Amino acid sequence: MSLSTLRLRVPLIVAPMAGGPSSPQLVAATCESGALGFLGAAYLSPSQIIHQSEDIRRLTEKPFGINLFCPNPAFDPHTFPKEIIQRGKERLEPFLREMGAATPNLDPPFDEDFYRQFDAVLEARPAVLSFVFGALPEDCSRRAREKGILLIGKATCMEEVDKLSQSGGIDAVVLQGVEAGGHRGIFDHKAPDPNIKTHDLLNQCVSSPQYKDLYKIAAGGIMSAEDIRRALESGADAVQMGTAFLACEEAGTSAPYKRALLASEERKTRITRAYSGRLARGLIRPFMDEMEKEEILPFPIQNSLTKPLRAACLKNDTDKYMSLSGLGRRET
Ligand SMILES: Cc1cc2nc3c(=O)[nH]c(=O)nc-3n(C[C@H](O)[C@H](O)[C@H](O)COP(=O)(O)O)c2cc1C
Repeated sequence: MSLSTLRLRVPLIVAPMAGGPSSPQLVAATCESGALGFLGAAYLSPSQIIHQSEDIRRLTEKPFGINLFCPNPAFDPHTFPKEIIQRGKERLEPFLREMGAATPNLDPPFDEDFYRQFDAVLEARPAVLSFVFGALPEDCSRRAREKGILLIGKATCMEEVDKLSQSGGIDAVVLQGVEAGGHRGIFDHKAPDPNIKTHDLLNQCVSSPQYKDLYKIAAGGIMSAEDIRRALESGADAVQMGTAFLACEEAGTSAPYKRALLASEERKTRITRAYSGRLARGLIRPFMDEMEKEEILPFPIQNSLTKPLRAACLKNDTDKYMSLSGLGRRET
């Protein structure tokens, strides 16, 4: 099967954006316009996945996708040293106090159970499941295929494309360049960034004969019609855009976040582990430097520790310590 079976009128995917931006309204509006909308479900509970899928279906009859973060079998938060977690919390305390935030949870699990989320996705039965941070476990690929769900993996280098096509297989690949806003999809969370630009990665994949028939989706730094045209002319079958849709009326992006994105033409960004423990590109804030003075806890622990801080920012209507994932006009 291929993504071409979806017969998109517009070769565009509005990126799954976990944490609120990809609201059911944004997903439905995208699909109604002829593109493909995605629910970013990584931080949703199984019942939220079911309910938000029902909300989407109330708004559109068109096919849509759901996105999950792959589990990381190499990392067990249950055996992670408690004193290091405690130290991570102590480092956040001045910021938590300033914002009047709740105390972070210090005990595992620090995120939703992937396999329960996956079961909910099968029940919701979207047209497409996309995933990031690795290959889907093989039994999950098989079960999704049995339900007729198309699979899209995400790669930041050609080695990852190879791994995706060798595992349970994929129907399409998102080729994510270093310009991309949000999390870098790198498989190994400790590895340095392969640092390949969107067009270079696309060109590498297009010129690999074994991937001649693979449906290729370019992502990262695509903001305008001209950018889209260039990617399609270079051999992409479609593009995936995140940042460009963050400030849409339908997006669930919080008010302080939208204001920060729209505040300056320049929008300087950089990549940091400060908010979640995984590399992600976002608007530059002093909090990034502050956190990077010491080793940052791995995902999902850091993500869980900063959660109350981010929630308190929302309550106080400030973006000060929010993770402002997105792309800048000038990358640093
Ligand atoms: C706020 C935000 C949240 C994101 N969340 C996810 C996610 O949950 N899953 C995912 O696969 N990609 C996520 N991404 C990355 C996008 O899939 C895509 O790679 C990226 O947005 C492309 O770069 P652009 O922002 O320059 O368009 C996110 C991006 C942003 C900006």
